[in-house]
Amino acid sequence: MAMRTCNISARSVFLFNILTVLVLVTYLVDLEKKIANAKASSQHNSDLLNTQVNGALLPSIVPSQKPTLFYNRVPKTGSTSFVGLAYDLCSRNKFKVLHVNVSKNAHTMSLSDQLRFARNLSNWDLKQPSFYHGHIAYLDFTKFGSPPPIFINLIRQPLDRMVSYYYFLRYGDDFRPHLIRRKQGNKTSFDDCVKEGQAECDPNNLWLQVPFFCGHHADCWIPGSSWAFEQAKNNLIKNYLLVGVTEQMEEFVAVLEATLPNFFKGALKLIEISFTENKSENPKTKRFKIPPKSETILRFKNSTVWQLENEFYQFAVRQFEYVKSRTLNPDFSGKEQQFFYEKIRPK
Ligand SMILES: *[C@@H]1O[C@H](CO)[C@@H](O)[C@H](O)[C@H]1NC(C)=O
Ligand SMILES: *[C@@H]1O[C@H](CO)[C@@H](O)[C@H](O)[C@H]1NC(C)=O
Ligand SMILES: *[C@@H]1O[C@H](CO)[C@@H](O)[C@H](O)[C@H]1NC(C)=O
Ligand SMILES: *[C@@H]1O[C@H](CO)[C@@H](O)[C@H](O)[C@H]1NC(C)=O
Ligand SMILES: *[C@@H]1O[C@H](CO)[C@@H](O)[C@H](O)[C@H]1NC(C)=O
Repeated sequence: MAMRTCNISARSVFLFNILTVLVLVTYLVDLEKKIANAKASSQHNSDLLNTQVNGALLPSIVPSQKPTLFYNRVPKTGSTSFVGLAYDLCSRNKFKVLHVNVSKNAHTMSLSDQLRFARNLSNWDLKQPSFYHGHIAYLDFTKFGSPPPIFINLIRQPLDRMVSYYYFLRYGDDFRPHLIRRKQGNKTSFDDCVKEGQAECDPNNLWLQVPFFCGHHADCWIPGSSWAFEQAKNNLIKNYLLVGVTEQMEEFVAVLEATLPNFFKGALKLIEISFTENKSENPKTKRFKIPPKSETILRFKNSTVWQLENEFYQFAVRQFEYVKSRTLNPDFSGKEQQFFYEKIRPK
């Protein structure tokens, strides 16, 4: 009996060994393949995700794909000057910039276009990192089985955005005085427009930044929907690398430069120069604008749309301030890695 037991266990040990060897061999072959693949892909691509944090630690989730940024710009938030920066930097920093022009200025796409766009953006090998921009509401790429790009965006104090745009259409700005604006010559003040209940000044028109971050769902576009508001906040936190505010454009650019130097190296200097030399690009430049009366502001503040849009904006500001303070504090340019590994065992 003792002998038998011994035999059986010897046999199972033998079988176990064979199995182990088989598993090991399979593993090694697989590993070799992976190494070969990695070598092949790193040859024709300077793996940007890896270098951008100084050689450390981002797992090469996309070994063969260059990083793709998507700036799904909200209209009238200073997006033109920010995009101008990308066009100024693209040759020097070796990335491609593409404008996504959606017909009829629609902010959402048909389901078939969403799928085409998601598939195309994730599979198109442009041989360089790429920066897409377009006025398109947030799109959930995973829904189409496609890896998502890195999302970034900029938002602006909502009533400011509306009032500035209102006067911009009527008076343009001092820096491009010859350009005829759509409502040039119209002397109606924003206050009167609101008092008269004109469609152009309806508080529901403020409903833009929340639905942009909420995305391609029916309820996103119902003015004042609290579901859309929650969805927008979730997307901002979970699916955006960074959301800046127009009121702090330079700081937004500085955080981007510290985080994605392969795209934004030199960006801060450039935007400072362009804001000094070409004030019309600076969203902080004073333009003709009659500050709305307090009764006008109260009227807006009374609406659910203003309340949710404003709360969303405040939420974005808090998040941006937090990221900024961690990334750009004075004794740390944001470019140096501030963590390291130690106590690595076994030696
Ligand atoms: C988008 O394309 C249309 C049609 O080709 C064109 O008229 C329009 O100017 C384009 N929009 C922008 C912002 O370039
Ligand atoms: C993406 O679309 C562009 C323009 O239509 C086309 O040239 C390119 O081949 C497409 N790429 C993929 C991978 O579908
Ligand atoms: C000026 O704009 C206001 C607000 O949209 C509008 O009610 C009014 O009709 C416009 N006036 C003219 C002369 O077009
Ligand atoms: C200022 O910016 C505007 C808009 O981008 C552009 O059309 C204009 O040529 C710029 N002017 C200078 C002096 O750079
Ligand atoms: C605010 O809303 C309340 C209730 O809808 C209404 O009674 C009040 O007149 C509104 N106030 C203003 C300033 O519009």
